[in-house]
Amino acid sequence: MIELSHVYKSYPGPVHALRDFCLKIDRGEFVFLVGPSGAGKTTLFKLISAFDKPTTGYVKVGNKRIDQISIGEVPYLRRKIGVVFQDFKLLRDRTVSENVALPLQIIGERDSIIKNRVREVLDQVGLKYKEEYYPEQMSGGEQQRVAIARALVHRPGILIADEPTGNLDPELSQEIMNLLERVHAQGTTLFVATHDKGIIEKTNRRVISLREGSLERDGIEFSETNV
Ligand SMILES: Nc1ncnc2c1ncn2[C@@H]1O[C@H](COP(=O)(O)OP(=O)(O)OP(=O)(O)O)[C@@H](O)[C@H]1O
Ligand SMILES: [Mg+2]
Repeated sequence: MIELSHVYKSYPGPVHALRDFCLKIDRGEFVFLVGPSGAGKTTLFKLISAFDKPTTGYVKVGNKRIDQISIGEVPYLRRKIGVVFQDFKLLRDRTVSENVALPLQIIGERDSIIKNRVREVLDQVGLKYKEEYYPEQMSGGEQQRVAIARALVHRPGILIADEPTGNLDPELSQEIMNLLERVHAQGTTLFVATHDKGIIEKTNRRVISLREGSLERDGIEFSETNV
């Protein structure tokens, strides 16, 4: 479902954000991504969601080479992937429902369908009664759930979440994780970056650790030193 082969990503400097990185994730997996700040986690997510291209190596989602994708094909890829960004990226001047509706508007969905689906997904994340709020009227945890609702609204097969529990208290973090578990149980492939070792220890799932752009570990066994 997701495959990266010998991927390097360099930025001017030069900074080698990813070095000779290889990875395969199958349909239906739930995989955590860990690594210290600057290890390359967000860089990896940007390559998978076509917000950036590798310097060398290839990136595949489904059977599609993302590193060779044309601008015109990007919307088709985005239908398959939902992304929860590290900094939410909610639009301040739009309400919760307007923010969540965006991915469906971009693909030209009918207004009546958008309305129903936005309600449904807001209900799923527990924000049914905050449809008309603006992001700044909501707590960090609520904004995080809006970002998750927006990433799920078009029913993507893959959900990528970049530190979805960052800056949340343990109770709220657990709530977000329960939500992601439910999304996974419905058949979505999940790839989730986190610094939260408590959460990883509890779930017993595959953990990929990055260090200075390279794969350090890949497996179910997990040690504290990797986070
Ligand atoms: N646009 C960019 N231009 C130059 N360097 C960049 C750019 N984006 C990332 N980097 C560098 O690439 C490296 C990896 O950054 P990245 O954001 O992927 O780390 P991260 O693992 O997500 O860290 P964090 O846990 O703090 O979010 C860092 O050294 C960073 O400074
Ligand atoms: Mg990051």
